[in-house]
Amino acid sequence: MQVLKAVAVAAALCGAVIAQARPLEEIQKSGTIVLATEGQYAPFNFYKGKQLTGYEVEVGEAVAKKMGLKFEWKTVGFDALLTGLAQDRWDLVVASHGVTEERAKAVTFTHPHYCSGGQIVSLTPSISKVGDLTGKVVAVQTGTSYMDNVKKVAGVKEVKNFPTDEAARSALSSKRVDAWVTDRFVAKEMLAKAPKAGLKAGDMLFIEHIAAAVSKGNQGLADAWNKALKEAIADGTVGTISKKYFQEDVTCK
Ligand code: ARG
Repeated sequence: MQVLKAVAVAAALCGAVIAQARPLEEIQKSGTIVLATEGQYAPFNFYKGKQLTGYEVEVGEAVAKKMGLKFEWKTVGFDALLTGLAQDRWDLVVASHGVTEERAKAVTFTHPHYCSGGQIVSLTPSISKVGDLTGKVVAVQTGTSYMDNVKKVAGVKEVKNFPTDEAARSALSSKRVDAWVTDRFVAKEMLAKAPKAGLKAGDMLFIEHIAAAVSKGNQGLADAWNKALKEAIADGTVGTISKKYFQEDVTCK
């Protein structure tokens, strides 16, 4: 990993304290890839009792297996996930990150494991279009693409940040905010799971490709992940996991 070495050397020369990200060979030698996610974002990554599970948790495990590796999960707050890559706290993050230019300055993204987007959710049909957000208070999870995109909507009264997406949902349910912007599949599941909660799904605000991330320039690891993910999509493994959670195929067409 010449690039990573160069980065580490440059950092050492600058006196910066950054740890070397593990190149593929080192991960292979240890036999175990360290994966990180949030664990509070159903149905993508969440705890069922003590068991971490969800669409992208299962996809991540299937990909790791195809790479011939064992896996170990770490779960931390959404905000700490991408920065933890540069600090060498884990090898790869699978936590529903949309691929954005801004994030791509700091990390290297793999190929996407699903395609989705941010959707408006409210308690009334009168708040369902982008224009309906004028003068309204909108809840989003801190550090997400929902936060960035709602901030771009002209006329929104306030964008309220919450540490988890679930806390943002709860703010809507208790009417502390007028709307919540979340992933369309999160919304779909929430509406199906709690039909009496009165949640209404409105317009999509934007669409995004969701991918795993490795530390910036760790291309060897990204390539190996991409190859294994491609195989897992081609042989139907990912499709089966997708149907289990969403009754449809959420991979990018
Ligand atoms: N897709 C959104 C983004 O890219 C939200 C991701 C939230 N993920 C999570 N594990 N809570 O920012």
